Amino acid sequence: MLEVKDLVIRYGPFLACDRISIEVKPGEIVGVIGPNGAGKSSVVRAITGLVPPASGTVRFMGQSTLDVPVHDLIRRGLSLVPEGRGLFPMMSVEENLLMGGYSLTNKALRKQLMENCYELFPILKERRYQLAGTLSGGQQQMVAVSVGLMGDPKLCIFDEPSLGLAPIVIHQIGETLKKMRDLQLTVLLIEQNAMLASNVADRIYIMSAGRVQFHDTPGNLMQNPEVIEKFLSA
Ligand SMILES: Nc1ncnc2c1ncn2[C@@H]1O[C@H](COP(=O)(O)OP(=O)(O)OP(=O)(O)O)[C@@H](O)[C@H]1O
Ligand SMILES: [Mg+2]
Repeated sequence: MLEVKDLVIRYGPFLACDRISIEVKPGEIVGVIGPNGAGKSSVVRAITGLVPPASGTVRFMGQSTLDVPVHDLIRRGLSLVPEGRGLFPMMSVEENLLMGGYSLTNKALRKQLMENCYELFPILKERRYQLAGTLSGGQQQMVAVSVGLMGDPKLCIFDEPSLGLAPIVIHQIGETLKKMRDLQLTVLLIEQNAMLASNVADRIYIMSAGRVQFHDTPGNLMQNPEVIEKFLSA
């Protein structure tokens, strides 16, 4: 579904990503974990066309994403929940969700997707007329996830959904991801929180210093304490 191959990203002389290859198959949850500055968000920016790579390829549903405008990627079924959420704070919860579904012409589908989000996060239904900017951090993250789902995506990319959230909310995000798995949604999960990612992902890539340093199942990662020690201990 998503194939990133030998991706190289430079910011001026600085090499942020050095031949990164990552694959996501339909129905999988794939985690990319690693410390601050590893280059994780840079990979996401290249996938969504925000940063042109120096070399390498990105294919989504068999077609290149490079040089494709972001609204076309959304139409093809890519959804990005960026770092820092990107909500409209002065709009209500429901208006934010509608923005997420703007590209859908099928009104019944839009309504159905909204119902799905409210089922996933009942608190958002209660708060649907509240301004998004006045929600708690965890609730805003739920809105961000919902906005992503409102586009009826084939692939959801989450960039650090747990950033700055309390442990209880991080736990809820983990539960949400498990529900997304049950719905057979495909997810690329970027995380610094290795525990969260390992709990929900089918496969894990560890990025550090611009490279993929390790790639395996979470179970096999847990049996490699030296890898955890080397790349994940802060
Ligand atoms: N626009 C830019 N110009 C110059 N350097 C940049 C730019 N964006 C990112 N970098 C550098 O590239 C490296 C990778 O950044 P990136 O945001 O991809 O890391 P990350 O793994 O997402 O980190 P974090 O977990 O902190 O979000 C960092 O050293 C960062 O300072
Ligand atoms: Mg980042």
